Amino acid sequence: MRVVLGVGGGIAAYKAVLLLRLLREAGHSVRVVPTAAALRFVGRPTWEALSGEPATADLFDDVDQVAHVEVGRSADLVIVAPATADLLARASSGRADDLLTATLLVATCPVLMAPAMHTQMWQHPATVANVALLRARGVHVLDPADGRLTGADSGPGRLPEPEVIATTALGLLRPHDLAGRHVVISAGGTREPVDPVRFLGNRSSGRQGLALASTAAVRGARVTLVAANVEAPAPSGVEVVRVQTAEQLREAVLAAAKDADVVVMAAAVADFRPAAAPTAKIKKDPGGAAPVIELVQNPDILTELAAHRSSAGQVVVGFAAETGDASGSVLEHGRTKAVRKGADLLVVNAVGDGRGFEAPTNEVTVLDGSGRVVTTAAGSKQLVADVVWDTVLPRLAPTCAASS
Ligand code: CTP
Repeated sequence: MRVVLGVGGGIAAYKAVLLLRLLREAGHSVRVVPTAAALRFVGRPTWEALSGEPATADLFDDVDQVAHVEVGRSADLVIVAPATADLLARASSGRADDLLTATLLVATCPVLMAPAMHTQMWQHPATVANVALLRARGVHVLDPADGRLTGADSGPGRLPEPEVIATTALGLLRPHDLAGRHVVISAGGTREPVDPVRFLGNRSSGRQGLALASTAAVRGARVTLVAANVEAPAPSGVEVVRVQTAEQLREAVLAAAKDADVVVMAAAVADFRPAAAPTAKIKKDPGGAAPVIELVQNPDILTELAAHRSSAGQVVVGFAAETGDASGSVLEHGRTKAVRKGADLLVVNAVGDGRGFEAPTNEVTVLDGSGRVVTTAAGSKQLVADVVWDTVLPRLAPTCAASS
């Protein structure tokens, strides 16, 4: 695909060099269009050597090739990183005073902007209005990251990391193959109260569920994320229902699943909860016996979803974090679980020894309902999420649009 990488005149221009590399490594051809100010931070030789293409800023370069029209017209995606306050202002008011802004006026493809500026500039009403206008026109404007800025200051205004911009950009280059679908994803780990200050919980960070939510949104789905005790911020464009216990998660998932095409149970649901959760803190009895906490079993939400689908074509996906033991390997446990749960797909991963829960990467085997291996995936949780959606897609009933 053909990507135009517009670079604004900010100190973060150097990070656009890393972004350029990531886009090239993903197999895309990239034409860099810096502003004149950007060239004061990173010069033409760097852009041209890494992209293998001319990197001109001026409307009056390459006039014979009508560059100001051609660059935008041939693009599959335009990225602007860093998008400075000045660039956001010029783009939102439709100026065309250099090659980059002219390109933005001509482009009909998706446009992704990654702002970077000082916090006060980002929060100024003028910038807020410019961003709102660009978003209303369909431009994807990322929120800047929060952190160290130029000099001693810190706050919101930092350019999002090149990997984050690249992931969003690569998502925009993907077909919107989940458009018109409603997907429900549970993520995180439930907490079952023992008393007002203690709970039974687990080590799930919710990262794989968040990756499923962000990739589904990028691929065009309407996404409901039922998040159990997830600390990380939810991806943009995703409806979030926050819950704590297995029972709350069950209610939220069943409600959202009523009109869902796909339900993915990525949450680690506690199998047991204390039979009674006193409203006062359980006190220690010095010298006495430790309290015995009676547990009762929680409902199995995945089994219930699979057995009572809200429509015949609804696809139900489970996750299984396994450790091998004397009675079987990770995959053997996964196969038994796939058959027992009745879901269409079960995504099995090995946990323990630093794998799975808090790690940024994952390694999974996807089984069908009979325990047969459908596919495997290893890599970032985003990559694994995309593989899960690729596996779900052929199982979806055709949409009205696709069948008409
Ligand atoms: N799950 C669920 N409700 C529960 C427990 C688990 O919906 N009460 C779902 C999880 O969200 C996951 C799948 O079932 O998608 C497998 O979870 P896991 O904890 O591996 O399975 P369990 O049935 O709890 O089996 P075990 O803990 O005995 O391995």
